[in-house]
Amino acid sequence: MINFDFHKYVSNYIKKEDKVEYLEKAREIKSRFIDGDLKYWNKLDTFVSSQEFKRIISVSDYIKSNCDVFLVIGIGGSYMGAKAVIEALAPMYNRKKPEIIFLGTNLCSEEYYETLEYIKDKDVIVDVISKSGTTLEPSIAFSLTMDIMKEKYSDEELKQRVIITTDPEKGTLRELVNKEGYVSFTVPEQVGGRFSVLTPVGLLPIAVAGIDVLQLVQGAKSSFERVDRAIEYAVIRDIFFKKGKDVESFTVYNSKMYYFTEWLKQLFAETQGKQKKALLPISCVNTRDLHSLGQFLQEGHDIIFETVIGIDKDKKVALDKYDMELNSLNNIALDKVGLAHFNGFTPTNIITIDEKNEFAIGELIHFFILSAIVGALLIDVNPFDQPGVQEYKKLINEELE
Ligand code: PA5
Repeated sequence: MINFDFHKYVSNYIKKEDKVEYLEKAREIKSRFIDGDLKYWNKLDTFVSSQEFKRIISVSDYIKSNCDVFLVIGIGGSYMGAKAVIEALAPMYNRKKPEIIFLGTNLCSEEYYETLEYIKDKDVIVDVISKSGTTLEPSIAFSLTMDIMKEKYSDEELKQRVIITTDPEKGTLRELVNKEGYVSFTVPEQVGGRFSVLTPVGLLPIAVAGIDVLQLVQGAKSSFERVDRAIEYAVIRDIFFKKGKDVESFTVYNSKMYYFTEWLKQLFAETQGKQKKALLPISCVNTRDLHSLGQFLQEGHDIIFETVIGIDKDKKVALDKYDMELNSLNNIALDKVGLAHFNGFTPTNIITIDEKNEFAIGELIHFFILSAIVGALLIDVNPFDQPGVQEYKKLINEELE
């Protein structure tokens, strides 16, 4: 269950009349979700068929009992969603086997060196995820990993140890599947990287981490009930932008939600950050960042608003000194920081889940996906492309040629 408070620490900044000019466009966008070209985003069942879902579970069971390390190679949307959900929901310490390692998110030789040394003597299953199959970083990670895998395993064994998640029809990775007979999953045609966490891209690694993917998807499916809230949130963000708030901070008070804010940054930056029309997303993990960016949010330039994700009930840690649970103190901090920042010209939207579990994280994921798409449509940019990302790839490729 998600609750929204777009009023308490926002009120002075956004008036009812500010929203009027959006009504017509919002209505039109909603009808596109209900019965138009965006209907797909209201029908999550079409993302992954029930047969494919069962296959994800059975392959994840195989992975769990057949390797020490599950190496997930991918960048951007091909990695961020799985990382966010696993970090949010898996225990911090003593995680279940296999160890899940993400690679291919940079060109850092130290990280590659140390990771490849680490996996050299371990039993490894690798899942390379790239919709295009051409992205530089995962291509390099995959090729370096395969050098090691080919030394360790026969061609027959590799068929049980290499998984490729890519476009259903085209690309070099699809060609490799066809040639070598590796296990493969598809990234659905209509789903771009940053929206793909609820497809095999995210679901397989998340299932390997022992997280209940069925509940995650159920939560996401239920989120369409809140499409009006997703639209309202998109409208509020745009009004803030028009009123000079250039930056939105996604702020959390549970440190395990850090990668969720990284996913949010990617989702909104790539979906809306076009034609100089959009907000810059940043993130804070409080109360840590109150002793860092917090100073700026309180007294710096008045260009920021916050969207806080709070959690009502959390693990019980008694604080005898104050005769309360630690999480209650954390939530007092959330509220009082909201007040302090509001007084310091940084308004705050508050989105709260009852508990951090699979269902609630699924709800949040799809709520924010819907909102990011709506937000892009409100500012007349294409939600589904990322032309700016191609630019650096093109320049590097020219240099390499
Ligand atoms: O959201 C997106 O589309 C991007 O972040 C991509 O996921 C990222 O660029 C990786 O692309 P690919 O999966 O084609 O390797």
